[in-house]
Amino acid sequence: MIQLSPSILAADFARLGEHCAQALAAGADMLHFDVMDGHFVPNISFGAPVLKSLSKALPDAFYDVHLMISDPLTYAKDFANAGAGCITFHLECDSDVQETIDAIKALGCKAGISIKPATPVEAVLPYLDQLDLVLVMSVEPGFGGQKFMPSALDKLRALSAECRSRGLSPWLEVDGGVDDTTAPACAQAGANLLVAGSAVFGKTDVAGAVARLKAL
Ligand code: DX5
Ligand code: ZN
Repeated sequence: MIQLSPSILAADFARLGEHCAQALAAGADMLHFDVMDGHFVPNISFGAPVLKSLSKALPDAFYDVHLMISDPLTYAKDFANAGAGCITFHLECDSDVQETIDAIKALGCKAGISIKPATPVEAVLPYLDQLDLVLVMSVEPGFGGQKFMPSALDKLRALSAECRSRGLSPWLEVDGGVDDTTAPACAQAGANLLVAGSAVFGKTDVAGAVARLKAL
């Protein structure tokens, strides 16, 4: 069963709660919350206070937080307190990876690691047994609306095979340029959690877009 995590980066921030409620009512499994610090990536998005408001307005939603920040170890607590269900950070960040996994779990959240397009999948394997989620970026992190990079498919296939051989079943999430056209190949390659920003909140008919992606 493929799950869908619409990225609120593409939502109308003036109507954020309403937009998210529409996506959830249409069958979105969770909400993808993209945090950018203007340092790890060349863009700034939003932080824990926004998550706090959103999770207060929609308390039953599961929040899939994607930290594109240099120092996730310092900030994980703020996101856990604000309502994060899963906190994913980048393997390429400045924080100690093992300490960050431990801290996220100690905060009571699920833990995920993301890899950028240039990072080989092998780099995440030493941590695989401890992870609830592995996020394969199919664009350079930092901006929505970019073109899907097919190299992500090989990574998903490799991860999927490795998980099978180890008897693990984490979420294998793919993020960037996922839409009706690219989603089927992602699912075939082993992704079980799709992030979609423009392909959901960039559409006039948010509910229809969710339903279409869920039906693939
Ligand atoms: C990119 C973010 C993505 C982004 C995806 O850095 O991590 O989650 O919102 O947007 P689309 O689906 O438009 O590529
Ligand atoms: Zn993301």
